[in-house]
Amino acid sequence: MPLPVPVLPEGVDPAWLPPEAFRPLGSRRTLIRGSGPLVDTVHGEVAEACARFGGSVERDASPEPCDLVLELSGADASEAFTSERADGRTTVRATGGAGLLYGFFHVVRLGEAAFQGERPRQTHRPTLAQRMLDHWDNVAVHPVMGQVERGYSGGSLFWRDGRARGDLERVRVYGRLLAACGINAVAVNNVNVHETEARLLTERIGDVARIADALRPYGISTHLSVTFAAPIVLGGLDTADPLDARVRRWWERATAEVYEAIPDFGGYLVKADSEGRPGPFAYGRSHADGANMLAAALEPYGGTVRWRAFVYDHRQDWRDRSTDRARAAYDHFVPLDGEFAENAVLQVKHGPMDFQVREPVSPLIGAMPNTRLAVEVQATQEYTGQQRHVCWLGPMWSEALRFRPEGTTRVGDLADGLVAVSNAGADPFWTGHPLAQANLYTFGRLAWEPDADPRAVLDDWIRLTFPDAPERLVGGLHAVLDGSWRTYEKYTAPLGVGFMVQPGHHYGPSVDGYEYSPWGTYHFADRDGVGVDRSAATGTGYAAQYAKPWAEVYESPSSCPDELLLFFHHVVYGHMLHSGKTVIQHIYDTHFEGVEEVAAAREVWASLDGLVDPARHARVAERFEEQLRSAREWRDQINSYFFRKSGVPDERGRTLY
Ligand code: GCU
Repeated sequence: MPLPVPVLPEGVDPAWLPPEAFRPLGSRRTLIRGSGPLVDTVHGEVAEACARFGGSVERDASPEPCDLVLELSGADASEAFTSERADGRTTVRATGGAGLLYGFFHVVRLGEAAFQGERPRQTHRPTLAQRMLDHWDNVAVHPVMGQVERGYSGGSLFWRDGRARGDLERVRVYGRLLAACGINAVAVNNVNVHETEARLLTERIGDVARIADALRPYGISTHLSVTFAAPIVLGGLDTADPLDARVRRWWERATAEVYEAIPDFGGYLVKADSEGRPGPFAYGRSHADGANMLAAALEPYGGTVRWRAFVYDHRQDWRDRSTDRARAAYDHFVPLDGEFAENAVLQVKHGPMDFQVREPVSPLIGAMPNTRLAVEVQATQEYTGQQRHVCWLGPMWSEALRFRPEGTTRVGDLADGLVAVSNAGADPFWTGHPLAQANLYTFGRLAWEPDADPRAVLDDWIRLTFPDAPERLVGGLHAVLDGSWRTYEKYTAPLGVGFMVQPGHHYGPSVDGYEYSPWGTYHFADRDGVGVDRSAATGTGYAAQYAKPWAEVYESPSSCPDELLLFFHHVVYGHMLHSGKTVIQHIYDTHFEGVEEVAAAREVWASLDGLVDPARHARVAERFEEQLRSAREWRDQINSYFFRKSGVPDERGRTLY
């Protein structure tokens, strides 16, 4: 039986699945073979497209005559599929329902091209098994963080007024969008698990089960963030010691009940001993002890524990120059390599700090060969313009995924999974800034194929989101998005030094906002120079956490790449970059350029008026006003700050304050 396609609620943007994207497939004759719930999903999709565009669909009939065959020939868990076109017929074959679903969306993505010429048989298989979105959604509105922590897209898609939303049709639509870009897992609540959220694990598991039901038809498994202190908070025990038999039993029982409610539940996500969250340290136990206890509870059901490596001292004394937050994850976790259970995955932020616009790849990645690792990126733009600024992160993620920690294997091949903190919410455009949809889409595609060219992925996003777009629109969107990450970098914190944001909410410039704070994020600017000495010879030793060749490359200012210079070294303002500019002149130039680039992108967008729907055009235009205002504020504060510190004038005589 075909499963009806979820109905887009009134006023909600169809994102990369507008009805017109289905025209090529929907106007043809399709044969579907095989059975199972995901085949029903695909059947519903094809039926809907055909009803709209005049094509036809048959199930399990003889194959004559038809243009497209979608065939499932097994019932395994494989997500792979093959595609080919011969003798005027396009064929997609899979041995698992998920593979057929991804094969179907592959045909949608190809559009007309899927039905033209001959195409040799190709096998498509995701490089990364886990392609996951973590929602930092609070069930109840948090007094400081609101409904969604670091959320810039309105309320939560899942939760409202302390409960799961009554109507979950939009969650079904969301699942469909995610499947269309290859995402297969979601964690539905904030890693900072407050009291209401803690109860999702026990008395509120029914709410989670409803969400899981809504996501399942698109091959998405549901995960829950849990608090390590649950046996105390929910179970009334006096300890959460992972080696205590009562604690272990409590988790076993709780987990059994979770699986009773959600038989295909994905597992737990845990932020422990991190920024004040409870964890195993309180009992003198290691992170492996903590993770393995949960892994043991999940193991009988095939579940996984995702344990975050974001562990550092957030009560540091800024006078203490020996403690370096960048070192923390490696120092805590590398000694535990090999100790984690088979069904435990260590989830590591892509950089050593916290989702800054420029960071080196975390040295932990590649340093734990006997541990399953997932790499975490941030689609929600906490530090990259909070979805008020255009900042397409595809190139940044791609650089991280293509990085070779030991000079050989790429990050994208070392990891088990890629995870993004979601940027989606109840906003009618899903992502606040309509162009931030491109980040969500690109994330999914890079998780499937970390080596993909992000610009080609962006092209797919454009052509799906704006079917029949004239070349002027396609070119304009590329002009606005392609270089937007580098533009953002230009007008914010320079040369990898990071932060310089306003404390707390993290929007807008405050050069010294974190300079004397306990969070461990500093730049050490004085009258002579700026940057953090992380060399082994004279600094914190962080550079030595890398394998060769990177330990050597980063150790010396002469070999360190310009864009990371101030992350690794404290240098004088007159230090000459590889680019041939001094550090101070680089700061001035990039900040002027950054603002000019935003102004130019704003003009490009204005020129697209009439080519995109008015509501979307207006929303982006309005955000460009704020981006330009903010970029000028960044430019003037950063440039004036360094001019006042250094006393060095701009060699081009532009205004500094
Ligand atoms: C950042 C962010 C927090 C979040 C944390 C995390 O520090 O500001 O809101 O909780 O990352 O990743 O756990």
